[in-house]
Amino acid sequence: MDRTLTFLGIESSCDDTAAAVVRARVGAAPEILSSEVLGQTSLHEAFGGVVPEIAARAHAERLDSVVETAWSVSGVALDEIDGIAVTAGPGLIGGVLSGVMLARGLAAARGLPLVPVNHLAGHALTPRLTDGIDFPYLMLLVSGGHCQFLLVEGVDRFRRLGGTIDDAPGEAFDKTAKLLALPQPGGPSVEAEAALGDPKRFPFPRPLLDREGCDMSFSGLKTALLRARDALIAEKGGITVQDRRDLCAGFQAAVAEVLAVKTSRALAMAADARLTALAVAGGVAANKAVRAGLETVSARAGVPFLAPPLRLCTDNAAMIAWAGIERLRAGIPPSTDFIARPRWPLDETAPALLGSGKKGAKA
Ligand code: KG4
Ligand code: ZN
Repeated sequence: MDRTLTFLGIESSCDDTAAAVVRARVGAAPEILSSEVLGQTSLHEAFGGVVPEIAARAHAERLDSVVETAWSVSGVALDEIDGIAVTAGPGLIGGVLSGVMLARGLAAARGLPLVPVNHLAGHALTPRLTDGIDFPYLMLLVSGGHCQFLLVEGVDRFRRLGGTIDDAPGEAFDKTAKLLALPQPGGPSVEAEAALGDPKRFPFPRPLLDREGCDMSFSGLKTALLRARDALIAEKGGITVQDRRDLCAGFQAAVAEVLAVKTSRALAMAADARLTALAVAGGVAANKAVRAGLETVSARAGVPFLAPPLRLCTDNAAMIAWAGIERLRAGIPPSTDFIARPRWPLDETAPALLGSGKKGAKA
C-alpha cells in the first residue's frame, strides 16, 4: 500500500499501558507523533512481581485516558487516522483483552481497519521504525519477560533460533536485587553496584555454555548467588557493602558473558543469511556490560550492531502502530476476527520454550 498511513497503536500486554500515533510517508522516515507509556511499577512493588489481576484492572482503568493523551499530543485529527493496531498477545490475558476490546470498539465506531499485532513482532520490527534497516537481521530480545534470538526475514517471517529455557535475564536481575535488598527494577540498581565491584571474586556459573545452539538458562545463577550470599552470612553474620558490590559484579559478568557467547553462536547459525544487523530490544539492552559484549561479538562477525533508543527498546505502543503499518503495507489484510492470546510464539515451528516468567507465559 503506497500512501501515507497514520496508525494508532495500543499496548497493554504486561505492566505498561501505552498508546501511540505513528505516521509513515512513502519515501520518508516514519514519524512517531506521540508515544505515551504509563508504567505500573509502584502498583506491583509490594508483591515482588507483576500481579496479573492488578495489572488487568489498571489497564482497564487507564487505557481510555492514555489513548486520549496520545491522540491529543499527536495533533492528528480523528479522520486522519487510517487504522488501529493493537497487541493481541502474547501476555497477561486480562491486560491484552482490555486493549483488544478498546481497539475493537474504536475501530467499529470509526469504520477503521483493525490490525492485531504480536507483541514480540512489535519489538522485532522496531529497528525498521528507528533505522529503516532491510531484512534479514538478527534480533536479540532481552527483557524482564523475554529472551530469544529471532531471525527476522520479513514482516511476518520470524525464525526463533533459541531462547531462555527458564528465567529471562531481566527477571534474574530483579531477583538478584531482591536477594541483596536493592531497589526494583533490579537491572539498574545491580548495574550501579556492579560498577564498584570485582567481577572475578565470585566466579558464578555460565549455564548451558557447554551446550550447542543458542538456548540459555538463567535460573541457576540466582541460586548460585543465593548460596554465595548465605555462605557470607554464615561466615561473618552479614554481608558488607563491598561483598554486595562484588556479588552484583560477578552476577552481571556471568549474564553478559552468556549473552555474548550465545549471540556469537546465533550469528554463526545465521551466517548464510547476509544479515543487515544485530539488533537488540528489551530493558536489559540498557546494561553497559551486556551491550559491550554484544558489540564485541557483532564486530567480530562483521555485522553492524543496532540498539534503538531505550524508550523504543522497552514496551511501548509506537512499535505496535508501526507493526500494524508494516503488515498493511505488506498486503496482510486487517481483521476483526481474531482472539486475544496469552501464548503466541512468533515462530510456530520452533519447539516451545519451557517455564512461565513473572510477567506471564513465555512465548
Ligand atoms: O523491556 P522491559 O522494560 O520490560 C519488560 O520486561 O517487558 O524490561 C524490564 C527489565 C527489568 O527486568 C529490568 O530490571 C531490566 O529490564 N533492566 C536492566 C537494566 N535496565 C532495565 N537489566 C540490566 N541492566 C540494566 N541497566
Ligand atoms: Zn516487551
